[in-house]
Amino acid sequence: MKVSLGPRAVAIPMPAFLVASYDQDSKPNVMTVAWGGIVNSEPPYIGVSIRHHRWTYEGIEKHQAFTVNIPKTSQAQETDYVGIFSGKTHDKLAKAGLTAVKSDLVEAPYLQECPLVLECKVDKYLDLGTHRLYVGLILDVKVNENALTDGKIDIRKVDPLIFGPNQDYYQIGDFVAKAFSVGKSLK
Ligand SMILES: Cc1cc2nc3c(=O)[nH]c(=O)nc-3n(C[C@H](O)[C@H](O)[C@H](O)COP(=O)(O)O)c2cc1C
Repeated sequence: MKVSLGPRAVAIPMPAFLVASYDQDSKPNVMTVAWGGIVNSEPPYIGVSIRHHRWTYEGIEKHQAFTVNIPKTSQAQETDYVGIFSGKTHDKLAKAGLTAVKSDLVEAPYLQECPLVLECKVDKYLDLGTHRLYVGLILDVKVNENALTDGKIDIRKVDPLIFGPNQDYYQIGDFVAKAFSVGKSLK
């Protein structure tokens, strides 16, 4: 039997993205985003939903760009910190020990300490209510060399921080099966 929990914004898993941008004074800022994910293949689009009163919102509006940085599980404290305090009043990068690096292709910084980074240019947006959904065109994906196995992104080496349904952080579990493959046996 299922228990109804009513309407609420929940899915499993959710990301703990670190969305970095330059603020209105072109100072690097970063915030945590759980409402986000890949939304198209060609062109490659990622969506991130940001409340209208965030400092990050102002920065993205001005520069029309952001980076999505995937933190490691060892960065839970930093990820939570930048998701609690605002860049309007706090120098979050300095406090969290995060290094802003100038992106190659967009007017937004990426974070040196994160193993996987997406450089994104705002292509579209949609006001949904509390949040503005930014659809970012992914212009480049950067990954730490030591997070690759045979030239491919290795999820275990990235060791991404995952956001859970009860305001908690998790680590990925075990390999289960190959996608676009295991299902074929039911044909
Ligand atoms: C785990 C977690 C997930 C969050 N997800 C979002 C989100 O998807 N969208 C959003 O607008 N705020 C989200 N927040 C809140 C912002 O990260 C937070 O308000 C932050 O301080 C905004 O920073 P800024 O004012 O410097 O932009 C989240 C916070 C945490 C801790």
